[in-house]
Amino acid sequence: MTYDVLVSQLTVNYDQSPALWDLNFGLSKGTLTGILGPNGAGKSTLLKALLGEIQAMSGRIQLSGPVAYVPQRSCIDWDFPITAIDVVMMGAYRKLGIFKWHTRAQKKRACELLEKLGMASYAERQISQLSGGQQQRLFIARALMQEADIFFLDEPFAGIDIATESLLVDLFKDLRDQGKTLLVVHHDLTTAPDYFDHLLLLNTRLIASGSVDEVFVQENLQKTYGQKEDFLERVLATSQRKSEGL
Ligand SMILES: Nc1ncnc2c1ncn2[C@@H]1O[C@H](COP(=O)(O)OP(=O)(O)OP(=O)(O)O)[C@@H](O)[C@H]1O
Ligand SMILES: [Mg+2]
Repeated sequence: MTYDVLVSQLTVNYDQSPALWDLNFGLSKGTLTGILGPNGAGKSTLLKALLGEIQAMSGRIQLSGPVAYVPQRSCIDWDFPITAIDVVMMGAYRKLGIFKWHTRAQKKRACELLEKLGMASYAERQISQLSGGQQQRLFIARALMQEADIFFLDEPFAGIDIATESLLVDLFKDLRDQGKTLLVVHHDLTTAPDYFDHLLLLNTRLIASGSVDEVFVQENLQKTYGQKEDFLERVLATSQRKSEGL
């Protein structure tokens, strides 16, 4: 089995208390994986540790290629004076390093991404003058501009309307089908089985990881969220109805 992301015995501490404890998992190439877990479970910490943004206490992380990352929304400085199209083009610059020329093809791709995400008419607008959901779409477009093999997205659907969410899910599935590996933090249990092929259930420890069919069962969800049985039964029933298109 070839893994694009391989994690063994990963432990991360903040001020002595563990945020992640002894995680072991692998993500195969060409998979779309959701990370599920309650607030404070360590989902964002996991992505930052994989990126090397925060230092692990112990463990090993192997990434097979370049990574594009969309952080959780609250972490971005929205007052930075820059236009929408420039934000998207920054995805290409990262690849070009200090030489900030871009090719016509890159500019075309940036415009296509803006168009696809319904943002074409905002291309020249300052990002501080966009709505929250529009800003979020831009940062996703910027990540898609990067010619990465691996994509880490932290709650990409937060504050995004339902039509854009469905468009993004299709984009993510296309990338997966092109052999990219995506790891996406997600909160909505009712859509998770439909959006992803694999899941990581996290609550400081890794409760379960694997294909949706193996992982998305009541016992695992209860261990992850600690909710009452009847609540999780309702969630499972709703997600089943959604995946059957009812
Ligand atoms: N810089 C930090 N210093 C100290 N503790 C932190 C820091 N960042 C996060 N934590 C703590 O680590 C734990 C995991 O945080 P993390 O942000 O990874 O959670 P999360 O699963 O992404 O939650 P959410 O769903 O709310 O985004 C939390 O208890 C949080 O309070
Ligand atoms: Mg988070």
